Amino acid sequence: MNTPKPSALHFDEIDAQKARLDRLRPFPPAALERLHEQMVIEWTYNSNAIEGSSLTLKETALVLQEGLTISGKPLREHLEAVNHKEAILKLELAVRKKSALDQDFLWGIHRLILKGIHDDEAGRWRRERVRILGAVHIPPDPVKVPRLMEEFFAWLRHEEPRSHPVWLSAMAHHKLVHIHPFIDGNGRCARLVMNLILMRHGYPPTVILKVDRPRYYRVLREADQDEYERYVRFMARSVERSLALYLQALTPSGASDYKKQGYISLAEASRGTPYSQEYLSLLARKGVLHAVKFQRNWVTTHDAVHEYIKKHGQRGT
Ligand SMILES: Nc1ncnc2c1ncn2[C@@H]1O[C@H](COP(=O)(O)OP(=O)(O)OP(=O)(O)O)[C@@H](O)[C@H]1O
Ligand SMILES: [Mg+2]
Repeated sequence: MNTPKPSALHFDEIDAQKARLDRLRPFPPAALERLHEQMVIEWTYNSNAIEGSSLTLKETALVLQEGLTISGKPLREHLEAVNHKEAILKLELAVRKKSALDQDFLWGIHRLILKGIHDDEAGRWRRERVRILGAVHIPPDPVKVPRLMEEFFAWLRHEEPRSHPVWLSAMAHHKLVHIHPFIDGNGRCARLVMNLILMRHGYPPTVILKVDRPRYYRVLREADQDEYERYVRFMARSVERSLALYLQALTPSGASDYKKQGYISLAEASRGTPYSQEYLSLLARKGVLHAVKFQRNWVTTHDAVHEYIKKHGQRGT
């Protein structure tokens, strides 16, 4: 698999959001604590739901915050929720201690993810062939996994000092699910590693939403064909969503004011363009126009609209 450079991609908007977030440091501890609680629950719920767990967001919160068991739901799903939270705490410790992201660390994460569920396969590379349901790509033969993973860690060590963290985290995630080094838990571990990379560069963790699973699978299929643009853009939007959430919660005054963060409503964005607000909303949903959701509404920037017009001309009103 080649690893193209993100020549067609830029992360200007993310960089601007990140700079705004950094200016708010140090964050107020109480607000940060609340955000953290929320992220742990949302990340755990969505990551496990993508893999088929039937726990709802509310049930995940009850399990993680109150230690409750949900009647009618399998023990396995409770363990998966608790294990995932422990894995997040391990990531956070690694960020604080600046631990290396190496084989031992990844095995440690995997051991937590499968704890009490599949202990004999936890913390080791797979020894069997696997298939990914919903993918055309067939992961490599198990005998190749140790070498491919060595190459993965070498690639990461080489790229990390010279790459944009958003690009790097997305590429690392794809490489991991492409190799599928474990017998189970690959998706969850790859999303954890992606966030570890983001977090150690000062980004908030990002959550791939369960509702986005079809698009997530679609862009992964494209990435399998070395078509990375839409894939990286998908991941970047997820990072933007987290940045917007953190900015919203940590901005001292006017916390819900998207304008203070440099965004404009789609109604405003449509002014002076050939596009209607509804059309811009469609473009935002499709991920073609750079936009983020603020509370329930899409917001964008003047630059993003100009960028879209430059790229697509005045078509499609
Ligand atoms: N076309 C694809 N190419 C590479 N990876 C993919 C593709 N489609 C899906 N995936 C990844 O594979 C994961 C699901 O695969 P599978 O069910 O085999 O994983 P798993 O090993 O059971 O891990 P987990 O239980 O955490 O998902 C998805 O979460 C996604 O990250
Ligand atoms: Mg699985």
